[in-house]
Amino acid sequence: MNTLKATLRVVAMLGAGLLLAACEKPPIDTVQRGVRGTGMVQVYNPRTVEAQIPANQPPADQPAIPVTEGSPKAADVYQNVKVLGSLDVGNFTRLMVAMTSWVSPEAGCNYCHSDNGNFAEDSKYTKVVARRMLQMTQDINANWKSHVAETGVTCYTCHRGQPVPNNVWFTADAQPYGSNFMGDKAGQNSPTVDVKLGSLPYDPLTSYLGGKEAIRVGGTTALPQGKGASIQQTEKTYALMTHMSSALGQNCTFCHNTQNFSKWENTPPQRVTAWHGIQMARDLNLAYMEPLATVFPANRKGELGDVAKMNCATCHQGVNKPLAGVPMLKDHPELAAYRPYTAPAPAPAEAAPNAPSGPSQ
Ligand code: HEC
Ligand code: HEC
Ligand code: HEC
Ligand code: HEC
Repeated sequence: MNTLKATLRVVAMLGAGLLLAACEKPPIDTVQRGVRGTGMVQVYNPRTVEAQIPANQPPADQPAIPVTEGSPKAADVYQNVKVLGSLDVGNFTRLMVAMTSWVSPEAGCNYCHSDNGNFAEDSKYTKVVARRMLQMTQDINANWKSHVAETGVTCYTCHRGQPVPNNVWFTADAQPYGSNFMGDKAGQNSPTVDVKLGSLPYDPLTSYLGGKEAIRVGGTTALPQGKGASIQQTEKTYALMTHMSSALGQNCTFCHNTQNFSKWENTPPQRVTAWHGIQMARDLNLAYMEPLATVFPANRKGELGDVAKMNCATCHQGVNKPLAGVPMLKDHPELAAYRPYTAPAPAPAEAAPNAPSGPSQ
């Protein structure tokens, strides 16, 4: 009997040891984000935070060139400038150099410009995309201050020195085997990084950041009134929240008082910022990314033929404020003013250049 007890005790100790091994090693920092007693505390691992610092340093940049009364404008000197025409030539060239370091440092100017030395030509698809990206960046900085504030974004916020940003997404095939007896997947049971490998619907982004499906699923009355949200809708909301949490490197209590996930009262202001972020990502995907489908070559598209789109992680990359809040925009005022829409040019005839880096999808 005693041996049995002793064995059980050893097994229990081993079990506890295993459980503890799954916990994080101290020291751990905690930051209180809500009213005392609400448990709204964020737990940070200083080692993880420390490891993020090198990846969030802005790159070297040339100082802006002082503009004098008679400085010639890009539109006066160049032949084919549709967005940056009112910028003076000195700062136009400075921006081209910066864009090269932000997007294509390895391939250089010719990642976008024709190999024959004619800078005016729009023969590469990358230049056509880049022109639209200039307008998108200006639109974000001018019209989405509700989200990006004065910190703003530059090409580097997303690109980080590569033609394809680290985090992009495509619509996933919800029924890779068809919805027949072979197995109805219904968009489930394939772990993806977008939902932190959770056992959740693997593509919540198409509905919410590529479409305008309602995110809120909680009942608003004490007793059920009619048909509520389905379990699938609820799981999809949860999947989106998991994406948002991991994209920002924060737990749910960064935005919610978990006593009631629906309620806006007593929630941190970050939830409102996040709400604007959802609207912004959705708007940019629909207004800028999807219409570029005719411009991007097939090797840049997803399994269903759609273009790469942005999510919260495209800018945030695991941090609550992209680049830890470094305001790169203040040194590039030309990216802060919005130029009106011009339709994207038709697909160029020439084949796409091969990207030197970035994920192959
Ligand atoms: C990421 C893409 C990209 C890179 C890299 C790039 N450019 Fe550009 N460049 C553009 C776009 C887009 C325009 C058109 C801007 C507009 O329509 O307002 C342009 C326009 C120009 C023009 C005006 C040509 C004309 O006559 O219309 C010059 C000159 C130029 N770039 C020089 C450079 C130089 C030099 C480099 C390298 C240091 C460079 N660019 C790197 C995208 C790029
Ligand atoms: C909000 C995030 C974001 C910002 C800001 C942004 N981009 Fe992009 N960019 C993307 C995404 C997403 C793609 C699609 C990735 C792909 O090409 O598959 C892309 C694609 C591109 C491509 C095509 C690359 C290729 O090889 O297919 C170029 C060129 C480009 N961007 C230039 C720019 C320039 C120049 C700026 C700044 C004026 C900029 N981008 C700002 C998100 C962004
Ligand atoms: C970065 C901020 C942020 C984080 C982190 C976050 N949420 Fe949310 N959550 C929101 C916003 C904003 C909405 C409302 C969206 C809307 O109204 O369109 C929301 C809505 C919800 C809803 C729907 C409420 C309703 O009325 O039906 C649930 C449930 C939810 N979140 C759970 C979670 C969980 C669980 C986590 C952690 C895994 C989490 N959230 C992390 C911002 C956040
Ligand atoms: C175009 C780039 C971009 C995208 C896409 C983006 N954000 Fe942001 N976000 C920013 C910038 C820049 C800031 C910093 C604003 C500031 O300095 O106050 C920010 C700030 C925030 C904050 C406030 C953080 C704090 O510490 O106060 C939250 C919350 C947030 N974003 C959530 C989201 C969510 C959720 C998504 C996806 C639905 C998202 N963001 C998508 C650029 C972006």
